[in-house]
Amino acid sequence: MPRVLIIDDEQGIRSVLSDVLSDEGYDVLSAEDGFKGLSMLETNPVDLVILDVWLPNMGGMDVLKRIKEDFPDIEVIIISGHANIDLAVKAVKIGAFDFLEKPLSLERTITVVRNALALEGLRKENRNLKNSLFLDDTMIGECEGIQKVKALIDQSASSDARILILGENGTGKELVARAIHLKSKRAQAPFVEVNCAAIPDTLIESELFGHEKGAFTNAFSQRKGRFELAHRGSIFMDEVADLSQSAQAKVLRVTQELTFERVGGEEKIEVDVRIIAATNKEIEKEVRAGRFREDLFFRLNVIPIHVPPLRERKDDLPLLVDYFMKKHRAPNATVSKRFSEEGMQMLYDYRWPGNIRELKNFMERINVMTDEEVISEAAVKQYLGAVTQKDSSETLAKYDDLNLGQAKESFEKEFILIKLRENDYNISKAAESLGLYPSNLHNKIKKYGIKIERDK
Ligand SMILES: Nc1ncnc2c1ncn2[C@@H]1O[C@H](COP(=O)(O)OP(=O)(O)OP(=O)(O)O)[C@@H](O)[C@H]1O
Ligand SMILES: [Mg+2]
Repeated sequence: MPRVLIIDDEQGIRSVLSDVLSDEGYDVLSAEDGFKGLSMLETNPVDLVILDVWLPNMGGMDVLKRIKEDFPDIEVIIISGHANIDLAVKAVKIGAFDFLEKPLSLERTITVVRNALALEGLRKENRNLKNSLFLDDTMIGECEGIQKVKALIDQSASSDARILILGENGTGKELVARAIHLKSKRAQAPFVEVNCAAIPDTLIESELFGHEKGAFTNAFSQRKGRFELAHRGSIFMDEVADLSQSAQAKVLRVTQELTFERVGGEEKIEVDVRIIAATNKEIEKEVRAGRFREDLFFRLNVIPIHVPPLRERKDDLPLLVDYFMKKHRAPNATVSKRFSEEGMQMLYDYRWPGNIRELKNFMERINVMTDEEVISEAAVKQYLGAVTQKDSSETLAKYDDLNLGQAKESFEKEFILIKLRENDYNISKAAESLGLYPSNLHNKIKKYGIKIERDK
């Protein structure tokens, strides 16, 4: 039964709408202002909100913004007694489904509610379909290094032991984490991901543990953190070595007691969550340098899984190439492309600093960019992106007509492009490998007009 929440300060409207919609078979909730409405959304799954524009405390348009930010899947129908075109356009731009004028025509209201719920249902279906289509969780590889990883996944999945996944960029750490979750008894419960490096320090605690209404400016309503959302499931703490010291202390406590408080709250929240962590940093070095708490390291590192870099498992290259070739084959192509012997040799000789992700991106690029059915050495050279053993005079030839300043800039641009590509256009990672601050890298990207073409 779809659930509808009515937010309107007029008691009359609330009761008429509730009656009509209940008669239609919907489950109806109501709230007299935006704050109450938003906090109801935190605790009740709702499919549709009917929202008045003129509300005390927090205006309807602000409530709409919050809903679209925090619950993008919920459809919202705006109702207003002071309707004007500007307002209606603005509401739809923010993401409202439709705009109804008061006094409400009940018939029209019911039709619009039905349509909105139909769209919501379609979206959900679409998303499920997408998830099942694009969930590429097949782990390709038969070499010893990967067999060890697969064995560890099988052995550890069924227990609740904490797992620390270690490996360079793009080696497949996230894939390992998902595989563990899917093979565990928690598979039906959520797999919640947190990228600890991507969340600013000031927000990380509220992101992980949630906050109470009013805990800080902009905390308009209570919000659940990732640990709470992962209840009965698994939480994947990616880039865990990048947690701030204070967040490390809090996470340590969760690992010890499985309880925490939301930011600004006193209530102890108990969760049943399995922690899977990952990092591409040498975490033991971080511990020795005092940047990562040793006690937390021991807590997380119950079962370490090392995912080897691609250059140490080149025996798997033919399998991987075959897999990605099929996957990225043009929809109208009848046969998969293949590599010439020399082309394949170049793939073996290459160092693959961006590991499987780099290989995957390369395969996608070459499939789109060449018409050759048997891919030549020249094409590989052209699209592999990074410099493969050329002698220095050849490398430098392109700078012939430039002065030193121009040559430096040209090199800088090219080098930044290579690092961006290797890091899948992730600015903070690329900045780290370049030894730059992300803001500094941003400036250079702007300066050189580099396009960020991050893949999905
Ligand atoms: N063995 C494999 N077989 C098939 N695809 C793989 C394999 N390993 C990784 N991939 C694919 O390569 C891409 C990168 O993998 P993933 O995101 O798991 O790497 P990661 O180690 O988490 O990288 P990062 O450190 O950059 O976060 C994904 O698209 C993943 O599906
Ligand atoms: Mg990852």
